Amino acid sequence: MKLISVSKSYGDNVVFDKFCLEAEEKKILAVLGSSGCGKTTLLNIISGLTDFQGAVEKSGNKISYIFQNKRLLPNLTVYKNIEFVLKNVYSKEKIPCIINEILRKVELYDSRNLYPSELSGGMGQRVSLARAFAYPSDILLMDEPFKALDISLKKRIIETFNSLYRTDRRTTVFVTHDIEEAFAVADRIIVLQKGGNILADETLSVPAEERGYADFSETKKRIYDVL
Ligand SMILES: Nc1ncnc2c1ncn2[C@@H]1O[C@H](COP(=O)(O)OP(=O)(O)O)[C@@H](O)[C@H]1O
Ligand SMILES: [Mg+2]
Repeated sequence: MKLISVSKSYGDNVVFDKFCLEAEEKKILAVLGSSGCGKTTLLNIISGLTDFQGAVEKSGNKISYIFQNKRLLPNLTVYKNIEFVLKNVYSKEKIPCIINEILRKVELYDSRNLYPSELSGGMGQRVSLARAFAYPSDILLMDEPFKALDISLKKRIIETFNSLYRTDRRTTVFVTHDIEEAFAVADRIIVLQKGGNILADETLSVPAEERGYADFSETKKRIYDVL
C-alpha cells in the first residue's frame, strides 16, 4: 500500500503536507506519535472516511477498521454483530461456521448471545477483533485498539491478536501511543509528527511470536529519543 503526496488540512491546521509512505503488504506497520499528530486522520485517509489531496494505492478495497472506541451495534448480540458484516460476503450456509470458529478463537463462543452492554471492555475489543478478522479484508486498520485495557487483559488480547494474525495476514496499520504495544505486534514502527514528518522508522527483524526473547533495547532507545 502506498500513500503518495497526501495532504490534509483542517482550516489552517496542516495535518499532512505531501506525505509519502509505503507499507509492505501483509505486514504490520505500527504508527506511534503524540496525541493530535494525525494518527487517526491517517487511518481515515486510508479507509476513505475523510477527503484529502493526493493518492492512496491499495492492493484491494476491502477494509476492516477497529476503532478507538469499540463500535458495536448496541441492539445486536455478539453473534449478530459479526454476522452483520458478513451478510453480503459469504453464503448463508457458510456464515455460521465462520462466526462460530472466530468466536472460539477469541474465547467468546459462550458469550455469543450477549449484547454489547453486557460485555466488559476487554470482551468488547475481542468482538471487534473477531469481526475484523471474520471479514475477508485486504487491509486492517487499528486505532489504539487496546488503549483502555489493564495490563494483563492487554497482554492476553495481544496474544490473541498475534495468533489470529499468524494464520490470516493482512496489510495492517496499527496506531498506538504505547511503545510496548508497538513492539509486541509490529514488523515495522514509525514515529509520526504533525505535518507528516517521520521522526523514526525502524524495521524489526524478529517476528512478533519470537519477541519474548529478542533484545530491542537499541531500537527502543532510538524511538524513545524522538518521542
Ligand atoms: N474532524 C475534524 N475537524 C477538525 N479538526 C480535526 C478533525 N479531526 C482531527 N482534527 C485535527 O487534526 C489533528 C490530528 O488529529 P488526529 O488525527 O485525531 O490525531 P491523533 O489520532 O494522532 O491524536 C488534530 O490537530 C485535530 O485537532
Ligand atoms: Mg487518534
